[in-house]
Amino acid sequence: MIVAVGCDHAGFVLRLAVLGYFKGRAEVLDCGVFTAEPTDYPDIALKVAAAVSEGRAGAGVLMCGTGIGMALAANKVKGVRAASCFDAETARLAKAHNNLNVLCLGGRFLSHDQVLTILDAWYGTSFEGGRHLTRLNKIAAAETSTFFSDGVVIFNHPLMHHKMTIIRDKNTSVKEFRELVQEMAGLMVYEITRNLPLSETRVETPIASATTLTLTGKKLAVVPVLRAGLGMVEGILHLVPNAKVGHIGLYRDPTTLEPVEYYCKLPQDIGERETFVTDPTLATGGTATAALSLIKAQGGRKISLVCLAAAPEGIKRVREVHPDVRIFIAALDPGLNDHGYIVPGLGDAGDRLFGSK
Ligand code: RB5
Repeated sequence: MIVAVGCDHAGFVLRLAVLGYFKGRAEVLDCGVFTAEPTDYPDIALKVAAAVSEGRAGAGVLMCGTGIGMALAANKVKGVRAASCFDAETARLAKAHNNLNVLCLGGRFLSHDQVLTILDAWYGTSFEGGRHLTRLNKIAAAETSTFFSDGVVIFNHPLMHHKMTIIRDKNTSVKEFRELVQEMAGLMVYEITRNLPLSETRVETPIASATTLTLTGKKLAVVPVLRAGLGMVEGILHLVPNAKVGHIGLYRDPTTLEPVEYYCKLPQDIGERETFVTDPTLATGGTATAALSLIKAQGGRKISLVCLAAAPEGIKRVREVHPDVRIFIAALDPGLNDHGYIVPGLGDAGDRLFGSK
């Protein structure tokens, strides 16, 4: 786990205690400050919060005079859940119930020993999920498009909700289902390509010469998991037409229920490409995990998994096996049924895309 740490001048007194606590426990992304000169706390809070929101850090710790200003600023960033904790019990509950991913501490109130107890209570506690997850989802729904927890983005946009409702409906025709899956994948491109690097260029408009931004020619790849993942490819290519396309075929062994590879053809330079793996559903996570392993075995490094409906079980499995892979989903459903289907989900996406049932 990487923990992003930052403080202002009033939290500086706690800096060594916090850095010392994480020695041997986690890798620290040190966001400063490095001296006790007056600093505006939002500058540091937003650095730490961005690292957590973008998945560069799994959690963050912020220190200022009260911890309150840091929490206020950090909570403005998508997917960040920050609060100032003053004792071990609030810190424990903040993780168990609120999945607090940025702990804030008040340098004017806490001793070195108190800080260590609070850190232990927070860092050593796991999120309980269940009813607390339902509540966090309601908070997340107030954001525009959000990191639900580190590395997972849930889209929250009226168009996505509307289209999702139609593709869930069992009476939706094959034609409409197919069109909507492509459209939703296309809408997701906006967010999945958010971090593509830009460089400056010059352009002559009809009015003036200007310095503007352009993509730095980043190489992309789309890899559908056959067969349902195919349904999302055109929607993505429509916006990133130069991406190369690989294919991975996996079937589920009827006895072991484990995925078995029957086809894998990827762009030769997959290791240099930002890769988007598509599959409309993320159920148990078995297929996605196997597909991601196949891509990594061929050198793939920067990989995102792009799905429409997902179950917590699938997300957990992928996060455990591939913590470096970012997951983008349109909807997080409550769970799976006994046959491994997402409930309520959208049924068998392959059958619905190709009309094979
Ligand atoms: C700085 O004096 C102080 O206002 C700041 O560290 C923090 O307590 C804000 O919430």
